[in-house]
Amino acid sequence: MENQRESRKKRRVILFPLPLQGHINPMLQLAHILYDKGLSITVIHTNFNSPNSSNYPHFHFCSIPDGLLELGASTSDVVALIKHLNVNCVVPFRDCLDKLLSNVEEKESIACLITDAACHFTHAVADSLNLPRIVLRTSGIASFLAFAATSLLHEKGYFPIEDFGSDAPMPEFPLLRVKDIPLIDTHDAENFYQFLISVMSHTKSSSGLIWNSFQELEQDALKTLERDFRIPMFTIGPFHKYFPASSSSLLSQDTSSISWLDKQAPKSILYVSFGSIVAINETEFLEIAWGLAGSGVPFLWVVRPGLVRGYEWLESLPKGFLEKLDGRAHIVKWAPQQEVLAHPATGGFWTHNGWNSTLESICEGIPMICQPCFGDQKVNARYVSHIWRVGLHLENQLERGEIERIIRRVMLEAEGQEMRGRVMHLRKKVDVSLRQGGSSYQSLESLISFLESF
Ligand code: UDX
Repeated sequence: MENQRESRKKRRVILFPLPLQGHINPMLQLAHILYDKGLSITVIHTNFNSPNSSNYPHFHFCSIPDGLLELGASTSDVVALIKHLNVNCVVPFRDCLDKLLSNVEEKESIACLITDAACHFTHAVADSLNLPRIVLRTSGIASFLAFAATSLLHEKGYFPIEDFGSDAPMPEFPLLRVKDIPLIDTHDAENFYQFLISVMSHTKSSSGLIWNSFQELEQDALKTLERDFRIPMFTIGPFHKYFPASSSSLLSQDTSSISWLDKQAPKSILYVSFGSIVAINETEFLEIAWGLAGSGVPFLWVVRPGLVRGYEWLESLPKGFLEKLDGRAHIVKWAPQQEVLAHPATGGFWTHNGWNSTLESICEGIPMICQPCFGDQKVNARYVSHIWRVGLHLENQLERGEIERIIRRVMLEAEGQEMRGRVMHLRKKVDVSLRQGGSSYQSLESLISFLESF
């Protein structure tokens, strides 16, 4: 490895993640993958949700002032947050990049900039400095196509659609229903559509596109995309199979999750987590709690501070709720998710279907209960439940009786076993794709040659 590094030390790549947990993890995993292949790494990051640089002694970090907190940006309106980022960061980002390009050491050259697709402002900045820009899209390929179709529908004047809860096929994307259109709650819907249009056009005109996915999982979507976006594509995922995400976690992971799982029977535990952004109301929280309790299935539940709107943490749980479950439940604020999913005691995952969670579940052969809330999660849930058929979609209002039934179907009934069989099959495909000669392995080799060609 050191020999490889010596021969390639002249190439540096500069990465810029979108400062949200589900985007920081894959970007820093990609940094690791490239570093391991002999490239030097610089990460430019915002002060908002800045990664812990001490976990990455081999990388160079530069922070830029983003003014996001001053503007009141928060994850409760991600569309507004991303809009602020795309406006506010232009000048500090350009200054930072300019400085990095001027101070480049003699023995080194900067190959390119790799930025999250959502940070579309970086395209013009990179162009103005004559630096190639490669895009990392941290979600799945199918959901990206669904976003593209959504922006097209907007341009054609389809919105507002009368019934967003409809089961009718989505125009432009018949594999999905109208209710699966990847919308995001925001106080400014027009801004959301403009954002989609910018992401699509700046991705299309980038030098290349990297995916945290693998060919065998999204073959048809990839073919469609290659036809529509005539730029080099690299499906090198799943990234976390090369490097875990624990070092880029913004919250500290409670390891009592693992010691608790160690005491449980194989495949007996339902793991419940809705990622880093989703928020629910008190009524939904209580239905989930009673549904979990009534199912009779033991569970490990991540209740992130801020998950329940208006509450710090568990205050709205009825007194004695946990005690009554008599050791059948464990609640934490944040878990080492990948270790939890890989644990032999874990038998199912009730998830919001963020792309990282979806991939992590597939990689461990864990069937899912899908409860998508916004954006790509809806598309991922549709693929999990109806295309790959490795999970059940909890579609209606959250209600304890329905929750109990769906948990039993996944954890205890034959249906769950069948889904487990199918997800194990996908898991095997992941392993093959990462092995020498496999699709992700080869795509990574192509990416490295591509980066060396600049
Ligand atoms: C966001 C969007 O919501 C999601 O739809 C999009 O695909 C990516 O960006 P998020 O909601 O946080 O992401 O979900 P997800 O993509 O699943 O990422 C969460 C990450 O946090 C995963 O890597 C997961 O392993 C990690 N995690 C989650 C923990 O480490 N501990 C936890 O307790 C929960």
